[in-house]
Amino acid sequence: MTSNIRTIGVSTGGGDCPGLNGVIRGIVRAAINEFGWRVIGITNGFDGLIWPERCRDLDIEAVSGILPRGGTIIGTTNRGNPFAYEVAENGQKVCRDFSRQCIENMKRLRMDAMVVIGGDGTLGIANQFHKLGVKVVGVPKSIDNDLSATDVTFGFDTALHVATDALDRLHTTAESHHRVMVLEVMGRDAGWIALHAGIAGAVHVILIPEIPFTLENVCEAIRRREIAGRQFSLVVVAEGVRMPEKDALGEPFPVPRTQSAGVLIGNAIQAATGKDVRVTILGHVQRGGTPSPFDRLLATRYGVAAVDLIARGEFGRMVCLHGTKIESVTFDDAVGSYNRVDPLGDKVHAARAIGITFGDQV
Ligand code: F6P
Repeated sequence: MTSNIRTIGVSTGGGDCPGLNGVIRGIVRAAINEFGWRVIGITNGFDGLIWPERCRDLDIEAVSGILPRGGTIIGTTNRGNPFAYEVAENGQKVCRDFSRQCIENMKRLRMDAMVVIGGDGTLGIANQFHKLGVKVVGVPKSIDNDLSATDVTFGFDTALHVATDALDRLHTTAESHHRVMVLEVMGRDAGWIALHAGIAGAVHVILIPEIPFTLENVCEAIRRREIAGRQFSLVVVAEGVRMPEKDALGEPFPVPRTQSAGVLIGNAIQAATGKDVRVTILGHVQRGGTPSPFDRLLATRYGVAAVDLIARGEFGRMVCLHGTKIESVTFDDAVGSYNRVDPLGDKVHAARAIGITFGDQV
């Protein structure tokens, strides 16, 4: 145990995600109850270290009632990299390095260590601070589930619930109107939300960045259903899919994309099949609102484990879930290694086995 810790900071960086408040609560309660430390909330990503007057104390009262709340009580930003912070100078945007200032402000705040909660980008910044000697540990966050050093990031399960619920609702209206419903979900360059929600939501077509597809094959699957007497279809599209060069009628798609993947694909299906198509872009609904029980539990375990890492003096590490156990890995192992869907993995296999098509380009 390191006895020289008195005060720790906590920051949430990057896009928000359900469960952030659960991690903050876990950190605050464990730090105070187990070790008697003071906890400071660093507001809006790392901005609170550039402007320390914006930081605020987090005591037990401050985190009361926040476990079911979405968002983050200390705010976040996905634009605040203190090593390359964008500022306006003489009417021009320039990048400045505020990292030394952040470290000085940590000392002024008497902050002995900090927990950084974030995705790949934010944890990369935490690693840069670690390499400058800052005592820092990390917690993996993302609805995209795209960090390979952990089995699951918190936030993913909630996003999955939202996407699956949307598919269940689209299912009934698609069936009534004999329509093709296209749902575009988030996930950045990974297809996890689309794949999991697609299977859980009993869709007919799943399109993900990891599996190149053609619109001919997608339309063919929809036509086959028609022939079998099923006049409606559900298509889930990951926002990051790589669009094929041509639509199902041989027309090239605009490059770069002028519309979202879901809209382009929906329009192309309508043009090629003559079916009535509707497109829903789920967007930030997946990121907001109350976290699922799974995410609340994972967030709490991650928060407590981060405090334990600090207590043991194990800095430069990120907590993670391996199987059923909370463990940790070094930042170097955690950042920059992307978790993408394995096209040959068991989940894609299961989806194919039950008749879901990925529109594979062969
Ligand atoms: O990484 C989380 C995520 O929600 C992605 O799924 C999505 O592509 C992106 O963030 C959206 O970012 P923003 O909130 O900046 O629009």
